[in-house]
Amino acid sequence: MVAEQFLKELPKCEHHLHLEGTLEPDLLFPLAKRNNVKLPDTFPQSVEELNKKYTQFKDLQDFLDYYYIGTNVLITEQDFFDLAWAYFTKVSKQGLVHAEVFYDPQSHTCRGISIETVTKGFKRACERAEREYGITSKLIICLLRHLEPKDCLTTIEEAKPFIQDGTISGMGLDSAERPFPPNLFIECYDKAAKLNANLKLTAHAGEEGPAQFVTDALDLLNVTRIDHGINSAQDDELLKRLAQEQILLTVCPLSNVKLQVVKSVSELPLQKFLDNNVPFSINSDDPSYFGGYILDNYLQVAKEFPQWDYNVWIKIAKNAINGSWCADKRKDEL
Ligand code: ADE
Ligand code: ZN
Repeated sequence: MVAEQFLKELPKCEHHLHLEGTLEPDLLFPLAKRNNVKLPDTFPQSVEELNKKYTQFKDLQDFLDYYYIGTNVLITEQDFFDLAWAYFTKVSKQGLVHAEVFYDPQSHTCRGISIETVTKGFKRACERAEREYGITSKLIICLLRHLEPKDCLTTIEEAKPFIQDGTISGMGLDSAERPFPPNLFIECYDKAAKLNANLKLTAHAGEEGPAQFVTDALDLLNVTRIDHGINSAQDDELLKRLAQEQILLTVCPLSNVKLQVVKSVSELPLQKFLDNNVPFSINSDDPSYFGGYILDNYLQVAKEFPQWDYNVWIKIAKNAINGSWCADKRKDEL
């Protein structure tokens, strides 16, 4: 296995990180208190109890049930700033140089918190991270696929000023995958793309869902990146296409284990992706829930793929830089 210090210093880009998924129990409870938010009686009532729950989830839905309760403690612009700032501070010590981060506006607007409040708080943290840590970033909104597509259209309308002025750089699709396939969101993606030709498009696909959802996301939603995408490995034609079009898969190893998508990181088809020239990046998804931030994910992969030498890791780092949505000038710096 390559040296830990090498992986720490390797310039890393994160493309799959839900800001709400960085809410650590030791911030969740103080925010609940600060904002007078009563957590459900069935929710763990202490940091220790909550950490215990986070050791394993049955599946994606089991995790999402906790995740959406957690988001309820976020109310003010300052809360959103504090959340994102805590994330940037942690990863500034892990060799992160560029982050393209998700948030779920609908989990806040449904509670009467405006997209403006959320976006301004996150944006302020991004700007400070660039100034103080040299970490550049992009904001990506995600549509919640378990909600009605017409609600998602409303969200896109509310996000319009931020999409048009470039504050929001991309749009994705997350939440429960299997019951809500990509074809339900064609109109949403069309609408968003028309608001700003520079808006980047991605979608969670092939996490719990089949390879067909990856193909559908590419064909029907015109995405240029796939979040997770690990089930693409079951379709050789799709692998060829991903390689040919250099579609980046934003893989999340610790997440896949915690949500029982695979039993261990060694089961992930990462060697197959490398052998087929399918680019992927390594990401943390919801680090406070899944037991590790970006470097922890890199280290776990290195441990379970000990045959990978320095050249393989340099290739992975370069693929992550190339697949980023930052300007070419920034890519050259990275
Ligand atoms: N929302 C936050 N994390 C997610 C994941 N891993 N899959 C789908 N939706 C999510
Ligand atoms: Zn995700």
